[in-house]
Amino acid sequence: MYSNMGLIGKPLTHTLSPFIHNYFLYKNSINGGYCCFDIYEDELGKIVEFFKKTNFKGFNVTLPYKETIIKFLDQIDDDARYMNSVNTVKIDDGKLIGYNTDIYGILETFNLYEISPIDKKILIIGAGGACRGLFYVLKKLGYGFIDIVNRNLSKAEKLVKEFNIENFRLFEVNKLNSFDNSLKYDIIINTTSVGLTGDNIYNFEKLSADIAFDMQYSLSGETLFLGKVISDKKVDGLPMLICQAYQAFKIWSGLDFENDYQDIISRLRSRR
Ligand code: ATR
Repeated sequence: MYSNMGLIGKPLTHTLSPFIHNYFLYKNSINGGYCCFDIYEDELGKIVEFFKKTNFKGFNVTLPYKETIIKFLDQIDDDARYMNSVNTVKIDDGKLIGYNTDIYGILETFNLYEISPIDKKILIIGAGGACRGLFYVLKKLGYGFIDIVNRNLSKAEKLVKEFNIENFRLFEVNKLNSFDNSLKYDIIINTTSVGLTGDNIYNFEKLSADIAFDMQYSLSGETLFLGKVISDKKVDGLPMLICQAYQAFKIWSGLDFENDYQDIISRLRSRR
């Protein structure tokens, strides 16, 4: 028997998912493979049929198709429906079932790195797609209060309403850039793609917190944000990526196995 799995999205140039999932296949002595399908939107229907016909166990979905894929599904689980975002699809007897394991990725990273938002003063930078999962988790776990900074304020306002966020303040970028180090947060979280796209308009040097968490990752462990912010505890997005992959693999395989995330992290970090 074999177990094949795939990833769809565009572009997939920098993805680490094949490394992580092929590690899980190897560690569980499963014969099969995980590979990438860098496709255009009008190819979604065709690729889904291909996966079904060739007995794929399932596939991951990344940008920009996490919402578009929903119309091809037979079933969707509660978290994914609430988020209107699917990153994992299981193929079960020809039926497509959608899940969102990004939520688990954030929750488990909080768990592994002892990041507890309960009663904490939190600064969130950005209000795009990555922030949606974070709001979901913060609502679930609880928090003290949240300050949110985004370039586009109306986008942040919309997101706060959608997730029914309470105890928050919204700030313009300029306001954050004039913060001084005396304004100390418990946790600062970067949800932006700053540094990956466009110029950096944020003055991260002015920020300090007990914990700094970047939803972006870097193989060196030091992202643009983590390199500048002042904090004794810095966590990048690599554990989060591994944890969402682990949960997806468990859904496809039905196996309950140990998530050896530290081994995967050290293998990935040594590749740079
Ligand atoms: P999406 O919003 O679809 O998730 P994105 O365009 O990569 O994806 O943006 C994610 C976040 O990064 C947003 O908060 C975005 O800010 P705006 O909502 O103001 O657009 C932020 N972001 C991306 N590039 C940025 C840049 N060069 N400067 C400041 N913020 C940026």
